[in-house]
Amino acid sequence: MCGIVGAVSQRNVVPMLIEGLRRLEYRGYDSCGVAVHRAGMPRRARCTARVNSLARTISDIHLEGSLGIAHTRWATHGAPATENAHPIFSRDLIAIVHNGIIENHESLKAILTAQGYEFQTETDTEVIAHLVHSFYDGDLLSAVIRATRMFRGAYAIAAFSNDEPGRMVGARDGSSLVAGIGETEAFLASDAIALAGYTNRFIFLEDGDVVDLTPGNLITWDRNGRSVKRPDRMIAQSLEGASLGSFSHYMQKEIFEQPLAIARTLGEIDALTPSIFNGADRSTFESVGKVLLLGCGTSHHAGLVAQQWFETIARLPVQVEIASEFRYRDQCHDPRTLVVPVSQSGETADTLAALKYAQMMGLDNTLAIGNVANSAMMRTTRSAFLTGAGMEIGVASTKAFTTQLIALFLLAATLGRVRGTVPSQQESAYLQQLQDLPIACRAVLAQEPQIIAWASEISQHENAFYLGRGAHYPIAMEGALKLKEIAYIHAEAYAAGELKHGPLALVTPEMPTIVSAPNDALLDKLKSNMQEVRARGGQLFVIADSGTGLSCANGLRVLETGAYFGLLSPILHVLPMQLLAYHCACARQTDIDKPRNLAKSVTVE
Ligand code: G6P
Repeated sequence: MCGIVGAVSQRNVVPMLIEGLRRLEYRGYDSCGVAVHRAGMPRRARCTARVNSLARTISDIHLEGSLGIAHTRWATHGAPATENAHPIFSRDLIAIVHNGIIENHESLKAILTAQGYEFQTETDTEVIAHLVHSFYDGDLLSAVIRATRMFRGAYAIAAFSNDEPGRMVGARDGSSLVAGIGETEAFLASDAIALAGYTNRFIFLEDGDVVDLTPGNLITWDRNGRSVKRPDRMIAQSLEGASLGSFSHYMQKEIFEQPLAIARTLGEIDALTPSIFNGADRSTFESVGKVLLLGCGTSHHAGLVAQQWFETIARLPVQVEIASEFRYRDQCHDPRTLVVPVSQSGETADTLAALKYAQMMGLDNTLAIGNVANSAMMRTTRSAFLTGAGMEIGVASTKAFTTQLIALFLLAATLGRVRGTVPSQQESAYLQQLQDLPIACRAVLAQEPQIIAWASEISQHENAFYLGRGAHYPIAMEGALKLKEIAYIHAEAYAAGELKHGPLALVTPEMPTIVSAPNDALLDKLKSNMQEVRARGGQLFVIADSGTGLSCANGLRVLETGAYFGLLSPILHVLPMQLLAYHCACARQTDIDKPRNLAKSVTVE
């Protein structure tokens, strides 16, 4: 999704802006651009290609400047075309980059058109540029403050005026924006990672803030126009994870990093105590009578798997919600609810909005599970758990998913411990199983060659079914999502018992069916469901535990995951599904790490 980088300095900032854009590429984008201040009128370069190609253009045209703003755009209003790419100018004076959506842009456009402004783009952002211009009388800060008061929707913006060479102004409401300060420069970015190596000193702006930046200095104003001091945070960031090593794609690298990421997430945990969760204590858990899990996409699937853990382990009722739906329904809420937003990025607009909605209803026992320290979600909740996945670059989430599951399992088991449903013997058993998991994951990942063989067949089809039961049904959903996201193969997941209630009509030899078959209490039922597929000539690709009695001899293709891993089994079964999607995508030569139309961090609703 859109990414912003801006800098005001005494040296040429363009190389830093380009480097910042490269680091934001992981968010997903379809066009990009840079603008710099230049005496007379601002200059810019924009394109619908990758940042590398923008960098070549910039070097060809010698674009340089000590004040500049840059952007990766993920189109919402207006096609991904060069003329819609940011930075957007108003009358060659005001330059703007924007992330978010201005919902009342049509009415603002009408006002501005009546004032004589001509619109060159199809974007909602252009109203911001012209509105700032219309209020501008030589002071960019007051023009931005006046303009932002008229916006409805979400925004993060960075702006400069060509009449004020040493000044940049930023503003945010609903979309993320962080300011950074160096000795003789100041920065803005959507994500602190864009500024790693340029500064360690960050200020996380709050909703409604406007920030005035000059080299080495910044002043923040809140939504009421009062000057406020937001805390400085010193964050040493590592760019570890940003290199591919011997892997062909980040997604493949991240799939294989999972044993390490899981071990890192578990860290030194040797007891299930509330202190595992930053900011939590016994009272956080004792009062809980219900768990509400909020998330989108893969993070929502993590919630669906965990639902069964909370019920089984902690004997707690659970509500799992797609974040974008939750806030638009009347809720019958229970004040004893523990609200758990789950998000890799911690910046997903829908999940943040759902969390705020829950808080507005008075549910203030909130615990975020996220992979990015200092992200909006991690800062907004009362307690938090930071997963140890490390930076995830591939748009299709893999290691973030399995580490979210680890965090959720720890949460369910800790709640169980506090509530008395997990005796100490069981606690030790869970901790031992968790410690054993990375090795079991390695064994499953070692079966990549067999998955490649499956992928050579499955990649030739345009449709696939995924089946699972119990906690493996959401794993089937996750497998299907991965196949859609990166291999562009239409895939649907069903709880295996549902197949005969409709989807079976679609089973033919052209419909490969991928099944997750743990050696659990539902195995015999699942086998019957598989028979229903076989009987109609369907091709079955089964991810099965040892001891299930399923083997290739029965006309099935079977990949063995080892012995049944109890409640943690879903984590092992998702690994072959991730690899399958990856190798199908390789076979179909898609843009695996940046799949079409998708973004890693979805910061608009
Ligand atoms: C996007 C990504 C998905 C991700 C979802 C939720 O749609 O493409 O991979 O699962 O956002 O993201 P979050 O950062 O909240 O986990």
